[in-house]
Amino acid sequence: MCGIVGYIGVQEASSVLVDALKKLEYRGYDSSGVAMAKSGKEGHSLVVEKAKGYIAELESKIKPSGSRAGISHTRWATHGIPNEINAHPHVDGSSSIAVVHNGIIDNHLALKEELRKKGHEFKSQTDSEVIPHLIEDEYSGNGGDLFEAVREVAKRLEGSFAIIVIHKDHPDMIVSAREKSPMVLGKGVNESFVASDVTALLKYTNNFFYMEDGEIALIKKNSIAVQTLDGEKVERDWTKVDWSVEDAEKGGFEHYMIKEIFEQPRSLHQSLSGWRSDEVNLPRDLVQTRMARIVACGTSYHAGMVGKYLFERFTGMPTMVSMASEYRFANTTKEDSLLLFITQSGETLDTIMAAREARKRGSRTVSITNVVGSTITRETDLTLYLRSGPEIGVAASKTFTSQLMMMYLLSSHMGYNMGSISREELKDVTMCLRNTIRAVAGILGDTSQVEEQAKWIKDFDNAFYLGRYINYPTALEGALKMKEISYIHCEGYPAGELKHGPLALLTEKTPVVAIVSNDHTYDKILGNIGECAARGAPVLAIVPEGDTEVMKYTDRTLTYSDPGALYSPIPISVTLQLLAYHAANLRDCSIDKPRNLAKSVTVE
Ligand code: M6R
Repeated sequence: MCGIVGYIGVQEASSVLVDALKKLEYRGYDSSGVAMAKSGKEGHSLVVEKAKGYIAELESKIKPSGSRAGISHTRWATHGIPNEINAHPHVDGSSSIAVVHNGIIDNHLALKEELRKKGHEFKSQTDSEVIPHLIEDEYSGNGGDLFEAVREVAKRLEGSFAIIVIHKDHPDMIVSAREKSPMVLGKGVNESFVASDVTALLKYTNNFFYMEDGEIALIKKNSIAVQTLDGEKVERDWTKVDWSVEDAEKGGFEHYMIKEIFEQPRSLHQSLSGWRSDEVNLPRDLVQTRMARIVACGTSYHAGMVGKYLFERFTGMPTMVSMASEYRFANTTKEDSLLLFITQSGETLDTIMAAREARKRGSRTVSITNVVGSTITRETDLTLYLRSGPEIGVAASKTFTSQLMMMYLLSSHMGYNMGSISREELKDVTMCLRNTIRAVAGILGDTSQVEEQAKWIKDFDNAFYLGRYINYPTALEGALKMKEISYIHCEGYPAGELKHGPLALLTEKTPVVAIVSNDHTYDKILGNIGECAARGAPVLAIVPEGDTEVMKYTDRTLTYSDPGALYSPIPISVTLQLLAYHAANLRDCSIDKPRNLAKSVTVE
């Protein structure tokens, strides 16, 4: 969580720092701040501005200062409430050194105690404030070498951190270091950048260097030098990222989320065609596996749950799905299976730590991510890319359906290579996936029915989402989408479980969104809809086009063109994304930045 940016170059630093920071607002948005080095007749100084709330609050406070170097931060609070004092940057006792930090310093209490004994005073309740004070001590003890001071301090910090440091007396440099929190360096002409992720910098450069754990960078206008904390020079290739700045803009839509929902025919097509061009041979490598386990969090976990059904259907391989935050604490010490990690951002700390654990346990590890060069790509043996383009809205939409697309592709190709399905069946999968993309385009072609249903559901406080078999995870994801952006309390349930307890909660004030698919679960889900309706609960049924049976129980329906029941999670998810989006919009919610959330969860 938290987004950080550093800039040094020829432009007005404040405008680059705030502009880039806005692109990171999805990482946290309870307060923000900047620190800029300024040189004038009176000598060198630091200009620090902070504001509670969205970055727009900070922007309104900042005046151009002529500074060409600075750092900025948007916060998702972990230690200390959101207010100006706890907002970053934090400064040392003499206000000469400013630091922005993303992560958590686990040993901050001990460090604070040690510093207090030496006379340091702290203003905030944050863990981060110890960092400038530690640097202050090192700097004054080493004859004024900022880079070495940061290196020594980074070695003492326990936990996770991406830090950027600026000193008023060194306006020609910024220093950054990372451990377990993401950080990318960017190079332009006569200017250099550092940020939590590439979307912040796409307007300025496509030339990126992904820092790794235990690395430190000296960033100047015309040079960037990276070393390990132990002093070894780091020489890795720079990466050209082909995302354009428009990909990370709203493009005329009111919110990123609705833009990203509408991008799905294209993002799904990119996932499908990307697979065919360069990943088609990959599964051959994996057919030795006898078991699979999918590990992920949140929406990605729901994609993994759909994946379980697909792996079992196409490969016959027993497949388990684990939440990353739980997998790590299981008692298994050795596991000889394929471990698949799904993470849109590639930076979710629970998923990364789970991947590390899986390697220790002896598993073959594969990741599926959207972000080229993200941390998970270095923590796993192989990486498959979603190719969805950047997703800025906190609520995942297009990356979820691309994750599903990857589940179909990987499981069916593995199944074919293992001899579990024939060439004809494999071709049939591809054909169905193309029809699935058409079904998604059909839903997006006319959203009026969904908007009508959003007007209806928006006034309820609680709702149930029901599905069976492969659409049980679809129900979970639909409920998650609705709750996170509209704040309506929603529970996703396997429809058959309802009568084992939750049915007690159904009243005429508890709507049920029930997913009907044309497969072996059809009669059963219709029965469940009947049970809900009989207890007075209003039911919105999501049904394949042409269905007439459901009318016996409810006349409130949304239809989808059915690409085959096995593929229906994709179009149905798009319908449920739209339902959540429009309900949230009607409730005037902060759709792209829901309260208390951040897109990349980089704390455990
Ligand atoms: O980047 P990841 O896919 O690892 O993120 C995992 C979850 O934090 C994420 O899917 C979250 O649940 C969604 N933003 C919800 O829409």
